[in-house]
Amino acid sequence: MSLPVMRTVSELRATTAAWRREGASIGIVPTMGALHEGHLSLVRAALARTDRVIVTLFVNPKQFNSAADLAAYPRTEMDDAAKLAPLGAHVLYAPYGEEIYGPGFATTVSVGGVSEGLCGAHRPGHFDGVATVVTKLFLQGGADFAFFGEKDFQQLHVVRRLARDLDIPIEIVGCPTVRESDGLALSSRNARLSAAERRIAPKLAETLFDTAARLAEGAPLAATLGTARVALEAGGFDRVEYLELRDEATLAPVGQAERPARLLVAAWLGETRLIDNVKVTPVGLA
Ligand code: PAF
Repeated sequence: MSLPVMRTVSELRATTAAWRREGASIGIVPTMGALHEGHLSLVRAALARTDRVIVTLFVNPKQFNSAADLAAYPRTEMDDAAKLAPLGAHVLYAPYGEEIYGPGFATTVSVGGVSEGLCGAHRPGHFDGVATVVTKLFLQGGADFAFFGEKDFQQLHVVRRLARDLDIPIEIVGCPTVRESDGLALSSRNARLSAAERRIAPKLAETLFDTAARLAEGAPLAATLGTARVALEAGGFDRVEYLELRDEATLAPVGQAERPARLLVAAWLGETRLIDNVKVTPVGLA
């Protein structure tokens, strides 16, 4: 099946206007390319829920903290298009840079509250970059539904907040994290792990699931998180950047798992920063 690739807002808008005239609902799956099974699961969710699906591919310079990280980000548009076509996605929107950040571009969408702490504390400006590009993609695409992975749980909250606060008429759909058979959450960063690091990496999910189960049974928060940090470092991680329990619905810090919560982690393995999160449902509420 062929997949039309569009580079400009005007091409995209002409297409979505025609879809609207047919009465079709529209889904959008924002990506930065280097597609893996996690992205493809979002596309499948979008195809199941909407009549027409736009997959976007834009490596957004504003959300990278270092020029080296941006330069190292894989650009694999041909491979990405080949993965998308058989699924039945309707358009690949891979805009020219100036369609997103035109001459004199001077606007930043900055989401307070949910952007603070966690990744927001360790990657200054990252969520401003995400919020700005996602807002543009929503306005350019005019979709009814947008699909994001729970793997980037804080990002999901940021996007929900901006859509609500800016009255963008789009429903944000969170989709479950896709994992390797050993539990490692899929991420384009996994390709950067050496063979030795790749053997250590599943320890992150394993520790997260064990810790979540203990917290769900009422184990004390500080001591349980302390034990988990020690386990990660003993298991080969170089540094745990954060390991925190947050409210599932608001992302506010919580002192004990007494209501549905998320356990979120970021940890470094050599030069690679991995993030993951799992739901914590207190046993009385399960
Ligand atoms: O999750 C990502 O890949 C990016 O942050 C997104 C949402 C496509 C914005 O550039």
